[in-house]
Amino acid sequence: MPEVIPLNAALGARIEGLDRTQAHTPAVAALLDTALAEHLLVVIPGAPMSPQQTRDLARAFGEPRPQLLRRKRADDVPEVSLMVSTLMSDGTTDKTVYRAEDWHTDDSYFEIPAKATLLHSLEIPRRGGATWFCNMQSVYEALPEATRRRIDGKRAIHGYDTPRARNRPAPRTPQEIAETPDVEHPLVRTHPVTGRKALYLNPNRLDRIVGLPRAESDALLDELTGEARKPQHHHGHVWNVGDVVVWDNRATMHRVVNDYAVGEPRIMHRVLLQGERPA
Ligand SMILES: [Fe+2]
Repeated sequence: MPEVIPLNAALGARIEGLDRTQAHTPAVAALLDTALAEHLLVVIPGAPMSPQQTRDLARAFGEPRPQLLRRKRADDVPEVSLMVSTLMSDGTTDKTVYRAEDWHTDDSYFEIPAKATLLHSLEIPRRGGATWFCNMQSVYEALPEATRRRIDGKRAIHGYDTPRARNRPAPRTPQEIAETPDVEHPLVRTHPVTGRKALYLNPNRLDRIVGLPRAESDALLDELTGEARKPQHHHGHVWNVGDVVVWDNRATMHRVVNDYAVGEPRIMHRVLLQGERPA
């Protein structure tokens, strides 16, 4: 059986000795999925895979689901997106790159956000381009008790776009707009496997707290986001080609650092895993 080695960090574990072709077998899949729930981030080193192989490995963590943005889908495997975040000098770089630079959790503008996200690196820049993760359970636990009391039971509105985002998203097609109305989620989520509470924030998508005037909502969201920006809750993953990294969107945020060289390819597979309604 593969070994789960916790990182000496705010979150995360490394999986050693995994034959990726066996990841879908029930005992191995259970070990991987449990490691994800407990450590919120798992890193699986290995070699580059085809879209089919990436999808099959993702199945150890749940049900891969088709991506919203059609133009990013990999041919023949609609559950796998090809994410090209190569920095271009002519300004044609996908805007996603810049939005991904601020802390976010994937998919919170859906009523049923992705449980987890898998990224698999095919090509990476020679240096830079690390992905950083934030443990939202430790963020919640670090809040003053008075703040925790104030937010427990509160709900918040997430949208595809909000003026609070540092970078605004790329245009959607009419069908994509119809598929992304504003949604309401609890501000504090309870992890369905471990029962631990996590602050459920998304600075790119979270517009306001239900029942509070805009100014008060903005101030409280700024205070909560301020705690999440503290380095004690963070861990950065420095990519090797072929890495598979899976994170639990129910209790983490992530961001990428765009400090790599212009023109050096940064190409990944991405898979989103079917989730459940946040509670
Ligand atoms: Fe993301």
